[in-house]
Amino acid sequence: MPVDIYVCQTEDIDEEDVRRFDHEDQTYCIYHTPDGFFATDGFCTHEEQHLEDGFVIDNVIECPLHQGRFDVRSGKALSAPVCIDLNTYPLEIRDGAIYLCLSETTT
Ligand code: FES
Repeated sequence: MPVDIYVCQTEDIDEEDVRRFDHEDQTYCIYHTPDGFFATDGFCTHEEQHLEDGFVIDNVIECPLHQGRFDVRSGKALSAPVCIDLNTYPLEIRDGAIYLCLSETTT
């Protein structure tokens, strides 16, 4: 059964920015892009680098360690050295608040 977890208010994340969210020993990244809000795993799939320190450009997160890039909408790895996609998670926006659905992944 899906469970929605409150993350923050939409206004707490500027457009083309990323926010870390930790819940029950897991870490996630929540992105605000021109296409809306998206959620992925928090760590890069190349090495254990948290993506919250990366750069959001349009719908792409660039890892700060080796500049690998992912599409945050699909989690797809876009450029070397990353070749493993990120898991993505559904979000819901209700009354200006962001909720993360942790019971299932979309990829
Ligand atoms: S740790 Fe992210 S690209 Fe290497």
